[in-house]
Amino acid sequence: MKKITIIGTGYVGLVSGSGLADFGNNVTCVDVNGKRIKSLSSGHIPFFEPGLTEIVERNMAADRLYFSTDVIGAISEADVIFIAVWTPMDSDGSADLSAIKDVSKTIGENIKSYTLIATKSTVPIGTGEIINSIISEHAPQSTIFDVVSNPEFLREGSAVRDFLLPNRVIIGTDSDQAIEIMREIYRPLFLNETPFIFTDIPTAETIKYASNAFLAVKVSYINELANLCDATGADIHVVARAMGLDGRISPKFLHPGPGFGGSCFPKDTRALIHSAETEGVELKVVKAAADANEVQIDVIIKKLEQLTGNSLKDERVAVLGLAFKANTDDIRESRAVVMVDYLLSREAEVAVYDPAAMSNMKQLYPDLDYAESIESAVRGASAVLVMTDWNEFRGMDLAHIGELMDKKVIVDAKNLLSREQLAENGFAFEGVGRPYNG
Ligand code: NAD
Ligand code: UGA
Repeated sequence: MKKITIIGTGYVGLVSGSGLADFGNNVTCVDVNGKRIKSLSSGHIPFFEPGLTEIVERNMAADRLYFSTDVIGAISEADVIFIAVWTPMDSDGSADLSAIKDVSKTIGENIKSYTLIATKSTVPIGTGEIINSIISEHAPQSTIFDVVSNPEFLREGSAVRDFLLPNRVIIGTDSDQAIEIMREIYRPLFLNETPFIFTDIPTAETIKYASNAFLAVKVSYINELANLCDATGADIHVVARAMGLDGRISPKFLHPGPGFGGSCFPKDTRALIHSAETEGVELKVVKAAADANEVQIDVIIKKLEQLTGNSLKDERVAVLGLAFKANTDDIRESRAVVMVDYLLSREAEVAVYDPAAMSNMKQLYPDLDYAESIESAVRGASAVLVMTDWNEFRGMDLAHIGELMDKKVIVDAKNLLSREQLAENGFAFEGVGRPYNG
């Protein structure tokens, strides 16, 4: 059984660590965040992710999953090290690789015998080479090691399932020994015939950015088409459904809304554009998708202003949904947070409700009115904004919501609600790309 160390115990590190333990490996997850490691060691999961508590508990109980702040000890004992630290966006749009470089230096200084180092963090093309040279510089001359690119494609909200049942695994390396070890670590996935792509490191690094950017392009594309539907009277849902029936297009990632958020699409599109620029290549399509995303929230704001007569000062506005998408408590780059900023700038009284993301939001905005339910958020409100696609919002009793509100105004930025029911219950409302003609 291989001894694996995962450096960086965030979404990716924790899900990959517990997933690899579930595959039968012996895994230690380390992090510089002592508070996080302490709470994990006592069985407390630091973020909301369906199924994660169960898989962590199961593998801790089976003595295959450990947590530690002893980064050096865990490096020196490992056969395989996965780097899963953050790679945030720098001020110029590039990926900030300082954590990757720090970790590479520590690895170089502390590996004792042959070690495989696999990068799970999303990193620009060429980073494998940087990691390789930093480790070489700091490792004793006789130490042999391999660097592998093994990008991660999990989505927050379905991360555990995505890790355990991926639609592909990418292994970028030029070492046969490394390929054998990666096969062993991922053995259950080989057995269930998950497609594996073996390639070189730069190609593996490119696959990750290319995939995220393509999905981001798809979302911006459908958002712009939805804006066109608003202007022409067509229905974007029917358009998207019909498009999606063409297998070449697929129905996935064709849901219009207030723009994509999260810790990945905004940063990864910008990082890819930046990387390409440094190579003298202009990625016009990706750039257009990123730019379109910046202004999509303005479309929602304009709808709100049109429905409320542009006067929000001292009006109570309820924002339903804070997370950047359903089934997560993550508010990084959430369009709902951009919306809250706008409402505060207009001096509205902002009430918010989210099934999972309220405590993260409280840390940034302690003074909003945090409601315990949809009903208490909307009570006395002059307008409601639906910003996240939580199932709970789909089932709202619109007649009751209308009774609680001061003025019956709803902007449904995720197209969750029935236009017919909104109309029947006397709401003035707007969705995205679905003008209602009665
Ligand atoms: P995260 O912010 O949830 O976690 C990163 C962790 O790394 C933190 O716990 C932090 O304390 C730790 N860390 C930072 N510097 C460290 C160091 N020097 N030594 C040890 N630990 C350190 O980030 P995340 O969402 O897990 O993303 C990690 C990487 O994976 C990023 O490159 C991201 O783009 C990529 N990725 C993320 C997702 C996702 O859905 N979140 C999916 C695929 C890929
Ligand atoms: C995304 C990718 O889907 C993962 O494969 C990838 O591993 C991850 O980024 C990453 O690299 O970190 P994630 O950010 O968790 O995963 O969420 P998505 O489900 O992709 O949604 C991203 C954003 O796009 C959300 O704000 C979502 O609401 C929005 N979106 C998505 C739409 O507006 N419409 C859609 O049709 C789909």
